[in-house]
Amino acid sequence: MTTLHVPLSQTPYDIVFTAALAGEAVPGLSAQVGGKDCLLISDSTVAPLYGERAAALLQGAGAARVTTTVFPAGEASKHLGTLAELYAAAVGAGLDRGGVMVALGGGVVGDLAGFCAASYMRGIPYVQLPTTLLAQVDSAVGGKTGLDLPQGKNLVGAFHQPAQVVVDVATLCTLPPRQLACGLAEVVKYGVIMDAELFSWLEARVAPLLALDEAVYREVVYRCCALKARVVVADERELTGQRAILNYGHTFGHALEQLTGYARYTHGEAIAIGMGMAVDLARRLADSPALADLQRRQDALLAALGLPLRAAGLAPAAIQQAMRQDKKYQQGRNRLILPDRIGLVRLVKDTDEALIRAAIEGRCDP
Ligand SMILES: NC(=O)c1ccc[n+]([C@@H]2O[C@H](COP(=O)([O-])OP(=O)(O)OC[C@H]3O[C@@H](n4cnc5c(N)ncnc54)[C@H](O)[C@@H]3O)[C@@H](O)[C@H]2O)c1
Ligand SMILES: [Zn+2]
Repeated sequence: MTTLHVPLSQTPYDIVFTAALAGEAVPGLSAQVGGKDCLLISDSTVAPLYGERAAALLQGAGAARVTTTVFPAGEASKHLGTLAELYAAAVGAGLDRGGVMVALGGGVVGDLAGFCAASYMRGIPYVQLPTTLLAQVDSAVGGKTGLDLPQGKNLVGAFHQPAQVVVDVATLCTLPPRQLACGLAEVVKYGVIMDAELFSWLEARVAPLLALDEAVYREVVYRCCALKARVVVADERELTGQRAILNYGHTFGHALEQLTGYARYTHGEAIAIGMGMAVDLARRLADSPALADLQRRQDALLAALGLPLRAAGLAPAAIQQAMRQDKKYQQGRNRLILPDRIGLVRLVKDTDEALIRAAIEGRCDP
């Protein structure tokens, strides 16, 4: 059991790493749920796997009453209709301002449950119990919550920090390999943007990562949470720009996801290709031995982890056009997070559109 404190000035909280669903103690959980009515929110894949154990965990921590509500798994559920059902479940479970919501699942469950908690009765606490690698290293930490509209992804949302995050890496053993690789793309991203030592550590552990070695995941998830927490504490509401480094590879990646209707690539696959486009672009702008080294090692590590490096069947012009619709990219002029070397990236504005196009073309096959 390890605890990582996230020292936000208004809403500090702990991330507890423990085999919670196998009965290991979760320090501090009873302070969050003890004597309270809990709404346990999960999806149709995760609830049958871990729902009962999670409910038992909450009861063991002294929850007054635990009601479970489940919606169909997948991004397609991240909409207003599901939110309305969650509100109804909360009312049905008798939750008042003294209640608490608990998100058991991946990023979709976390984002929806978090937004539901942010808005229900003007805001009640929630606890995150993330079960995908992506949720454990990224979405469960940082307080961004929200849902999709027919007009676009994540168009509705709120900042609402969890009261506690409980990470049990044993849940990763049931994750399909593609979902695991999806989270690994974010893990590689952390190495490139802020931790060269982590990057080398990952390079030396490809086999145990692919074999789902629990000890390796305990360490990697802890390290990534610590990195994300550092960024979030520096820039909780994405106001100073420091949080923007998390967007490395994402402007390219979001364009790939959007163009393919969020069906062809997982998020991690899209950003793996996007990180390749970003380093290629950085080399076109100002080449250096450090960037050549980054390009070679990033490609090798992503490929070894089962992630794609190139896109196929998409027009580079359409990718560039889709990027322009990204609100983080185009604010009068374009803004991209580009690397200098492994462990260091920066925000670059006003890049020549022809160079961006060339970088995209370099990673596109007919
Ligand atoms: N709030 C943030 O800061 C933030 C950051 C990144 C991504 N997100 C959001 O997160 C979502 C993606 O999250 P995700 O990749 O976790 O997707 P997800 O929640 O859809 O989970 C992926 C799939 O894995 C299944 N699953 C989850 N845990 C499992 C387990 N332990 N064993 C077997 N199957 C399991 C789910 O049922 C689902 O089918 C997107 O909606 C994205 O916008 C939010
Ligand atoms: Zn991401």
